[in-house]
Amino acid sequence: MIAAKLVLLLTAITCSVIAMPDRNIPAQNFAQTERVMHPNLQRANAINVNADEFETSYWQNQAQETILNKKDMTFNKNVAKNVIMFLGDGMSVATIKSARVFAGQLNGEDGEGNKLAMEYFPYSGFSKTYCANAQVADSACTATAYLRGIKANYATIGVNGQVARGDCAASLLDENRVDSIATWSQAAGKRTGIVTTTTITHASPAGTYAYTSERNWESDEVTFETDCDDIAYQLINGKTGQNFNVALGGGRSNFLPNGYADEEGVVGNRLDGRNLVDEWLSSKSERNAAYVWNRTSLLELQDDVDYLFGLFEDEHMKYYLDDVNHEEPTLEEMTEAAIKVLSKSENGYFLFVEGGKIDLAHHSNLPRKALMETVEFSKAIQKAKDLTNEEDTLIVITSDHAHSLTMSGSAARGSDILGIGIAAEDGIDYPALTYINGPGYRGEEDGQRYDFAQNDLTDKDLKYPSLVPMDSATHSGEDVGIFASGPWSHLFVGFNEQNVIPHIMAFASCVGDGYTACDE
Ligand SMILES: *[C@@H]1O[C@H](CO)[C@@H](O)[C@H](O)[C@H]1NC(C)=O
Ligand SMILES: [Zn+2]
Repeated sequence: MIAAKLVLLLTAITCSVIAMPDRNIPAQNFAQTERVMHPNLQRANAINVNADEFETSYWQNQAQETILNKKDMTFNKNVAKNVIMFLGDGMSVATIKSARVFAGQLNGEDGEGNKLAMEYFPYSGFSKTYCANAQVADSACTATAYLRGIKANYATIGVNGQVARGDCAASLLDENRVDSIATWSQAAGKRTGIVTTTTITHASPAGTYAYTSERNWESDEVTFETDCDDIAYQLINGKTGQNFNVALGGGRSNFLPNGYADEEGVVGNRLDGRNLVDEWLSSKSERNAAYVWNRTSLLELQDDVDYLFGLFEDEHMKYYLDDVNHEEPTLEEMTEAAIKVLSKSENGYFLFVEGGKIDLAHHSNLPRKALMETVEFSKAIQKAKDLTNEEDTLIVITSDHAHSLTMSGSAARGSDILGIGIAAEDGIDYPALTYINGPGYRGEEDGQRYDFAQNDLTDKDLKYPSLVPMDSATHSGEDVGIFASGPWSHLFVGFNEQNVIPHIMAFASCVGDGYTACDE
């Protein structure tokens, strides 16, 4: 016992020595950059660890408690009346780990031992994310997998592997098209909805309603020379899009005519002269429908609304950290509004919620933003959990693909997750979070590796070091997590091909053409 304890303590001491060089580490000051104030975390590299953790009994008791909580777990074999799918775009396991620490430290608590909302979900597994024709996936082929049940080619949505990227003619053939779980749910009489922080026509949300050989065909500005409908048009007029009860996100320009400016001065980019927002409103004129373009209107929504369309930005919605005056709804607020509309359905609902800007922040090598978007994603998950019952609601959380963020080095427990202070052999410290590639690349200066410590580490727009120069960081190919609670959530355990996910959700909620829980 005593020997074991000594080894532990020695390890702890050694780690602190390595991780805390005698240079002045820039002090954390979240209050300057975060909308959420957490004055507790003003100290750098705080060893914010419970002293009991250096005792044998602490870990033994914690493990025993875990077993007692788990040993009587039962399988929930109810039919899932409702299914909510949360998609963290680019939310790799490294992102989850870093965001967990970040969230804990924001609250002045232990970061490493903290838990995000999905960590409380009883079942988890892995999703294998490659495309039919690509080793490392994009958000389009993956959306086709996790929403339609088949693997397809890079950058294509809602069409099978017969359709090459950009092949409009092939994408028009019925036999090449596959429907999504949103379509299956509508056919079963359920309400359906989609929520995202990106454009509502971006690859992930488009996975629920669009058929296209090119994910970038978001408006007719790009499709006008083809026979194919753009994605915005499909949201308003397509067989699935037109039936959505809820669609909330960004990307208003894709719905408005070129030259036309709306209430917020947003100018449209459509060449066909159509105002798709007006078309949506007139198609729903006999029903309780509301179109909103700002947060106030969303929060003041009447209870009788059955159809809700909200576009809060011309392009993607703002990063949470950039929306300092809270002008746009948070993902949590949009999720709550969506569930309010959908849960009036007697037959249940299917809701897709995307935290879309985790990926975009990673592409720019901006970990502070990526982690904050992940924390916001976690809050939306918690809200959905609080508003639903696991007896009748299956909640599935996953990611489409991993990303270029890595977490490495031997920082001491409690070290600021965005701080610096890991020693290297050239005498220049580096941060725990770095990127494999992307715009954070800096070459040598005066024959020396760039010294990242000279930066203001509280700057939300600070690009973290990258090994390989790229305008935009790439995705990476590791498997991603699946976390689930509610009916049949135990079916997600193990390593799953990504395209199995919607089949399990369809099985649990008795929609689609496959074998379902209602056949049991
Ligand atoms: C939100 O939109 C409504 C409806 O167009 C408008 O009346 C209101 O002034 C807007 N609020 C803000 C804060 O822009
Ligand atoms: Zn991406």
